[in-house]
Amino acid sequence: MSKPLILGFGGTTRAGSSSEKLVRAVLSNCEKEGARTRLFDGAFLARLPLFAPENPERTAEQREFVEAVRRCDGLVIGTPAYHAGVSGLVKNALDLLEDLRGDARVYFDDLPVGLVVSAAGWQGTGITLSALRDMVHAMRGWPTPIGVSVNSLAGPLFDADGAVADPQLDASIAAQAKQIVRFAAAFQQPNENRGAA
Ligand SMILES: Cc1cc2nc3c(=O)[nH]c(=O)nc-3n(C[C@H](O)[C@H](O)[C@H](O)COP(=O)(O)O)c2cc1C
Repeated sequence: MSKPLILGFGGTTRAGSSSEKLVRAVLSNCEKEGARTRLFDGAFLARLPLFAPENPERTAEQREFVEAVRRCDGLVIGTPAYHAGVSGLVKNALDLLEDLRGDARVYFDDLPVGLVVSAAGWQGTGITLSALRDMVHAMRGWPTPIGVSVNSLAGPLFDADGAVADPQLDASIAAQAKQIVRFAAAFQQPNENRGAA
């Protein structure tokens, strides 16, 4: 059995984006659990054109992103709370994944999906995590029971070295990563999208 590939996407275009750092932290923990990882960060997502259902043309980066999700064994999606919901950047990336609708493995079928939310207040964390969960459900994914959500106003999230400052948050990140990798390994049956190679 090969190492599962866990793909992360999300964050914002803001320097030091907390949601992006948290996705990185989950991916780094996934590596400790034995997975390979890849991140599509806020800067990458910002280069994806606005999804238009009538337009079948794709940029090289749109194709790269869709192909990477097609071949992954698990996902981490990170978003800030923007007006009590998922950011437009992340929603646009999710909408592009409409390209997976006709696949042998439709959308996120059989994929564990770790969810990460950063908000400037507790209300925003819960609402946005719940909204993101609904989107992943609608795309046939399996959100892990442990979601990571932070109130970015509640105190420094990271120390001077960029490590997660709060031990409880650190434990949630580690627990989510464990759930993603264990589920991915359990579901790592022959992936019809990946082909024989
Ligand atoms: C356009 C916009 C809308 C926002 N709406 C909310 C909101 O509804 N609730 C909330 O708690 N925080 C809201 N925030 C704050 C961000 O969610 C918060 O600062 C978050 O930590 C930013 O994530 P980042 O560090 O990855 O950029 C908003 C910020 C922006 C720029």
